[in-house]
Amino acid sequence: MITMKSAREIEIMRRSGKITSAVLSSLVRAAKPGMTLREIDRLAEKGIRDRGGIPTFKGYHGYPASVCASLNDVVVHGIPGDQVLNDGDILSIDIGTTFEKYVSDTAITIGIGAISGEAQRLLRVTQECLMRGIAAMQKGNRLSDIGHAVQQHAEAHGYGVVRALVGHGVGTKMHEEPQVPNWGDAGKGIVLRPGLVLAIEPMITEGTFDVETLKDGWTVVTADGKLAAHFEHTIALTDDGPRILTLRENDFMELDVARYRPDAELAA
Ligand code: MF3
Ligand code: CO
Ligand code: CO
Repeated sequence: MITMKSAREIEIMRRSGKITSAVLSSLVRAAKPGMTLREIDRLAEKGIRDRGGIPTFKGYHGYPASVCASLNDVVVHGIPGDQVLNDGDILSIDIGTTFEKYVSDTAITIGIGAISGEAQRLLRVTQECLMRGIAAMQKGNRLSDIGHAVQQHAEAHGYGVVRALVGHGVGTKMHEEPQVPNWGDAGKGIVLRPGLVLAIEPMITEGTFDVETLKDGWTVVTADGKLAAHFEHTIALTDDGPRILTLRENDFMELDVARYRPDAELAA
C-alpha cells in the first residue's frame, strides 16, 4: 500500500530533510585525507541529535551506525569503522534522520583530495542521473519514467545501473512502497500524483552492474572491483512539481530541476 502525504506531513518531512542535508553538508566539509570513517559517523550522529533528530539507520535491522560510508568499489551500506580516507578516494555518504516521526534519506558521493578525471565524470553523471530521475517525477507521469530517465543517462555514458537495490517510498518508515528501480521502460507502473514522497537513489558503476555482499552482511561492492557512485534525495511530488526535501544549500544542480527534463536539451 502506498501512503500519500498531506501538505502538513510534507512540511514536517522538509524539516526532517533540512536536518539531514545540513548534517550531510557538514560531513562533506569535514571529510579529509587521514580521517577515519568512524569519525565521520560520530560527527553525523552528534549533528543529527544536536538538531533534535534521531539517526534513522542506527539499529535498523541491526545496522550499527548512523551513516553508511562507502569507499571506492563499495556501492552502498559500507559500515564506518577504522578505514582511513586517502587522497584520490571517492566516498559515498548515506544518511537519514527521523524527526517528529518522519524520515528523510539522502546520499552523496564526494572526492577526497584530488581525484582522477574518470572518477570526477562518474560523480557528475551519477548526480545528473538523480536530477533527471527527479525531473521525471511529475504529476501524470508514471513511476517507471523515473528509472527510465536514470538508465538512459547512465548508459549513454557507458556506465552500469545497479539492479540489486532500488529507491523507495519514504514517510514514517524509511522504506515504504513503492519500490523505485533505476532502470526500465517508460510509461509503466502507477500514475504519479501530488502527495507521493519518494527516495530516488541511482547507484551507478564504472564497469558492469553486478554486485556482491561481503560477509558482514551489509557492505555491497562491485563484482569487478571498479568504482561506484550513489546520490539520493527524498522528494515530494507537489502541485507545483517535485520538491527536494533534502535539498542542500549551495548546490546549484539541485536548485534547477527543470534543466534535467528530457526535453530540456532542445531548449539549451
Ligand atoms: N539509506 C539506505 C537507503 O537509501 C538504507 C540504509 S540501511 C541501514 O535506502 F541499515 F543502513 F540503515
Ligand atoms: Co539512503
Ligand atoms: Co534510500
